[in-house]
Amino acid sequence: MCGIVGIIGHEFKLSELIDNLKKLEYRGYDSAGLAVTNGQGLYVSKSVGRIDTLRSVVDVEKTARSGIAHTRWATHGAPNDRNAHPHTDCSGKIAVVHNGIIENYQELKNELIRKGHMFRSETDTEVISHLIEEEFRGNLYQAVLGALKKLKGAFAIAVIHADMPNVMVGARKGSPLVLGCDDKRCILASDVTPIIKYTRDVIFLEDGDIVYIEGNKAKITDINGNVVIRKHTHITWDESAAEKGGFKHFMIKEIYETPEAVESALVGRFDEHGRPTLYELDEFNLERIKRILLVACGTSYHAGLVFKYFAEKYLDIDVLIDVASEFRYRPIRVDDETITIAISQSGETADTLESVRAVKKAGGKVIAIANVVGSTITRESDVTLFMNAGPEIGVAASKTYVNQLVVLYTLGMYMARKKGVWNEQLSSVSKELMNMPKILKYVLQNQEIERMAEYYKNYHHFMYIGRGINTATAMEGALKLKEISYINAVAYPAGELKHGPIALLDPTFPVFAIVPNDSLYEKMRSNIEESRARNARILSVATEGDEEIKRISHDVIYVPKVHEDLYPLVMAPVIQLFAYHIADKRGYDPDKPRNLAKSVTVE
Ligand code: F6R
Repeated sequence: MCGIVGIIGHEFKLSELIDNLKKLEYRGYDSAGLAVTNGQGLYVSKSVGRIDTLRSVVDVEKTARSGIAHTRWATHGAPNDRNAHPHTDCSGKIAVVHNGIIENYQELKNELIRKGHMFRSETDTEVISHLIEEEFRGNLYQAVLGALKKLKGAFAIAVIHADMPNVMVGARKGSPLVLGCDDKRCILASDVTPIIKYTRDVIFLEDGDIVYIEGNKAKITDINGNVVIRKHTHITWDESAAEKGGFKHFMIKEIYETPEAVESALVGRFDEHGRPTLYELDEFNLERIKRILLVACGTSYHAGLVFKYFAEKYLDIDVLIDVASEFRYRPIRVDDETITIAISQSGETADTLESVRAVKKAGGKVIAIANVVGSTITRESDVTLFMNAGPEIGVAASKTYVNQLVVLYTLGMYMARKKGVWNEQLSSVSKELMNMPKILKYVLQNQEIERMAEYYKNYHHFMYIGRGINTATAMEGALKLKEISYINAVAYPAGELKHGPIALLDPTFPVFAIVPNDSLYEKMRSNIEESRARNARILSVATEGDEEIKRISHDVIYVPKVHEDLYPLVMAPVIQLFAYHIADKRGYDPDKPRNLAKSVTVE
């Protein structure tokens, strides 16, 4: 995710730039850096770790007239001083901070190296400073335009030049960037938090916008230099609300960040025909794999369950899944045809880590799926597919669950290609996956979810049911509800109801049914009827246009029609928002559920 900020127009102390950066620390905190100028060369300082470490190595009393700073959430390259931003060009005069992912950085880098550029980091960002250097003929704005035309991927950038303390250039495509100017200065930042102490009138830049700032005056153009007019937004949030993007809690903010997070998980992982290209796995010869061991805990386990259904459907292999706290104590059998996948948002969960160690000890190979770069599981596994969701502060997993799913679907499709079983169906799954940020934005607008939370908030029990791939959705829905609202929620594959749990049902025990229009729809319908016959109230989550479900349920929340394998993705915000609103309406803080920790580093 990363946070970027720039100040220009008025002399400031470096402590001010660092204070501004500190407001963005929630966006990443594995390294930080700044570059400033007062017209006599660039002063650059970077350090691994949090922003306070940067503060301790910088001369905070030093003054400058323009400056950029960055707090990093590593995507390409380990978190260390060399990979920390800002990145400079060969002349050491151009400095760039960047949030996003440059998809074609490797080919650009090869070309720049051929032209004699020397790279100092492993980041995708460094190509931007060298590209700007290539294009530079004395005009920084024109040089940035030239460089941007060559970039593919997502970015928000801020650029300065050592000899031009009065000029800053910013640009946005896919990653957020906000501009605010008062009578002395302009501030560019990833969100409004560093800006509101200067001005409450800001411009949220749009994709394709380039901003040229001279002193405290800014001009916004498109990539061809045509001026574009953007409206000002007046921000009324106080500082703590601004940190949460105006939302009441981090959890809801993070749920609403899901489309952006999914975009970051997809970028650079598909070719121009929509086929997955996970280059980091090329050496693993996944074509020979006949058995997958999947290990994870909690929400990550539920993501793994979705993968099991998906992979077994298309790959003609067995996927054995277990929670890590059980897996690690069972006999582990691995061979050349087996691969283990360990899923962990934090990358630190003790049971998952010990499972990874046990597999490695038995001679097996491990693919980790994690969000936190540099975490222990990523270091001890053979390779990691990062979720790129950005930091998640709310204790209950939300956007990271969706990103786990996106990465797992991508992995499944990549394996299908390797095994030579890529087919039309997968081709349409992949097309729809690309469209998921848009679809999820639409799902997130559904006001019915909060209305349902209001209606159901006082029940003491819930029965979540689903079938097939959405058994996992039911399990995740129940987990979310119980962990933040403390309501007793149980989940079953719907076919299991009649083997015991149906005895619980009565008017005080509602059923939350995940019933998309898929190949198991008719079976789910019967299970709903059975539940209704026991006088349970039914809240169904169904596909838009399904009128029949209205007849047999008391309440319905609709999601858009998608490929049947992808319903867990569109259902995720529904189960998360339902749990969030119930917790909030019951007066609990969903960001800090009792007895829980974000990273469970004990057994
Ligand atoms: C629930 C939740 C937990 C985690 C579990 C594993 O909302 O967040 O169930 O999923 O503790 O954590 P990671 O994925 O960090 O290994």
